[in-house]
Amino acid sequence: MLSVRRETDRFELVRDGLVLGWLTLEPGRLTGIWVQETWRRKGYGTYLYRQALKQSGIGPKERLTAPDSAALRPFLEKFGFRPQDGQLVRCAPVQRNALSIVHGFLAQHLGPGMFAVDATAGNGHDTAFLCGLVGPTGRVLAMDIQPAAVQATRQRLASLGYGQAQVVCDSHANLAHYARPGTVDGAVFNLGYLPGADHGVFTVPQTSIPALKTALELLRPGGVLTVCAYAGGRQGTVERDAVLAFVRDLPSSRYQVEVELFSDRPGLPPVPICIKKRVPC
Ligand SMILES: C[S@@+](CC[C@H](N)C(=O)[O-])C[C@H]1O[C@@H](n2cnc3c(N)ncnc32)[C@H](O)[C@@H]1O
Repeated sequence: MLSVRRETDRFELVRDGLVLGWLTLEPGRLTGIWVQETWRRKGYGTYLYRQALKQSGIGPKERLTAPDSAALRPFLEKFGFRPQDGQLVRCAPVQRNALSIVHGFLAQHLGPGMFAVDATAGNGHDTAFLCGLVGPTGRVLAMDIQPAAVQATRQRLASLGYGQAQVVCDSHANLAHYARPGTVDGAVFNLGYLPGADHGVFTVPQTSIPALKTALELLRPGGVLTVCAYAGGRQGTVERDAVLAFVRDLPSSRYQVEVELFSDRPGLPPVPICIKKRVPC
């Protein structure tokens, strides 16, 4: 059993009573992180980092500094730290968009050891995000119909040291072949086309709506599902509207549904949809 134990500003990564690593924090500053050599490049450091920040209530976009060293820099660069004035600084502007909203929702509900599905793997950003949330003891299934996307996702996961994902080249219409009903803790649908690839291949409501229905059935009670619905182009608008109509019809006795339309923003901003399957009373 893997856990992160907190002792004031020190966080210890513990497995079966053995300390595999530690991380130290001061207000606004990560002062050190160390993982035993044999446990490196397997996602344990990432798990420790995420858990320590979560337990400290430090948000994903909050400014943090760290000492700059050859040992720390390659690890911390994965989390947005950059060299600045002789130290490493993580300073991402606080953004509120469809992706940050669904990621925040997923981070609230998913944790170590859980099973998550990325129904549109693309370049693997969401798959990697899910791997970070469920940790090395969890499991992620990622699907995409494009071999290039499957390859990009596998490469991204390998470069980040995530080994807990199964990446399959298949349509999310076949999701039921890969998971049993009631076993999924979280499912992610980031709709649209693969950035940087053929824009002629994109998600369509003829398959995404049945896949959403299936994913909801596969969720355990209390499980969550998110959608980022892009409205770019005629196809995007058609799919966004079909998804909005679909979620509007979900029975409120079974699902809690939150949609943010960003109606004050110009253009056609992507719409984040966050769904939680209710636990029966
Ligand atoms: C917006 S991208 C996903 C971005 C991705 N989640 C990421 O983090 O990079 C949408 C992806 O859906 C894929 N897609 C389209 N139709 C699909 C289907 N029926 N089943 C699974 N994936 C599909 C596309 O190939 C594309 O890679």
